[in-house]
Amino acid sequence: MNKIKQLVDEMTWNGDKVHSYPEQFDWIGQGRSAVAYKIEKTNQVVKVFYPKYKHLAQIEADVYRRLSNHDLFPELYDVGDGFLVLEYVAGQTLYDCLIQGVSITEEMVEQVDLAMQYARSQGLNPSDTHLKNILLTEEGAIKVIDVVRFTQEEECPHWDDLKKAYFSYYQKRYFPRKFPKFFIEFVIRLYRKRLLPI
Ligand SMILES: Nc1ncnc2c1ncn2[C@@H]1O[C@H](COP(=O)(O)OP(=O)(O)OP(=O)(O)O)[C@@H](O)[C@H]1O
Ligand SMILES: [Mg+2]
Repeated sequence: MNKIKQLVDEMTWNGDKVHSYPEQFDWIGQGRSAVAYKIEKTNQVVKVFYPKYKHLAQIEADVYRRLSNHDLFPELYDVGDGFLVLEYVAGQTLYDCLIQGVSITEEMVEQVDLAMQYARSQGLNPSDTHLKNILLTEEGAIKVIDVVRFTQEEECPHWDDLKKAYFSYYQKRYFPRKFPKFFIEFVIRLYRKRLLPI
C-alpha cells in the first residue's frame, strides 16, 4: 500500500488535470471526478480523485465496504488520501459495447437490476449508474463501478431511463447494435438537457 501511495504522490497536476503519472500506471479511464489506472503486473486499479474531489475517496470506500462482498461489484482492497485501490475488471463498459457493436442482452440488464436491488438492501440509494459505470467482463459477467453517489438522498433516474430506452428502442428488431462515438455523445448531451423522449 505504501508503494501505491508513493506512486500516487509522484503524480503531477495542472489544477484538476493530470500533468504526469508514473510509468507503473496504465491509464484505463476517467470521469468527472477521478482517473483510473491499472497498476502494472497486478490485478489492481488505482482510482485517483482530482484534487478538488479528494474527500470522495473515503466516502466511496465506505460505500464499497457495504457492497464489495457481492460479485456484481469490484472488490475494494484499500483506501488512501484521495485514492482507492480496487479489483481490476478486465472487460469493457456498456458505452464501449455500443461503439464496438457488442450486443447488450436482457440477462446483462437483469444483472444490473440485481446489483441495484442489492445496493438498496444495504441501505444505499443507487445513483449515477450510466453506460460508462457498468462493465462487461471477458467472461460475460456484469460489474457496477463508481458507487460514490450511492449515498445521495435524491432519487437518480439514470438506470431506469437507460432500461426504458433499452426496452423501447434497443430491443426493436431493426435497431442497430453499433453506433459512432460522436452519435452516443450527442444522445448523452440531449439526455442531460432533458430533450429526449424516454
Ligand atoms: N475497477 C475498474 N476496473 C476496470 N476499469 C475501471 C475500474 N474503475 C474504473 N474503471 C474505468 O475508469 C473509468 C473512470 O472511473 P470512474 O467511473 O470510477 O470515475 P468517475 O470520475 O467517478 O466517473 P463519473 O464521471 O461517472 O463520475 C470508468 O468509466 C472505467 O472505464
Ligand atoms: Mg464513472
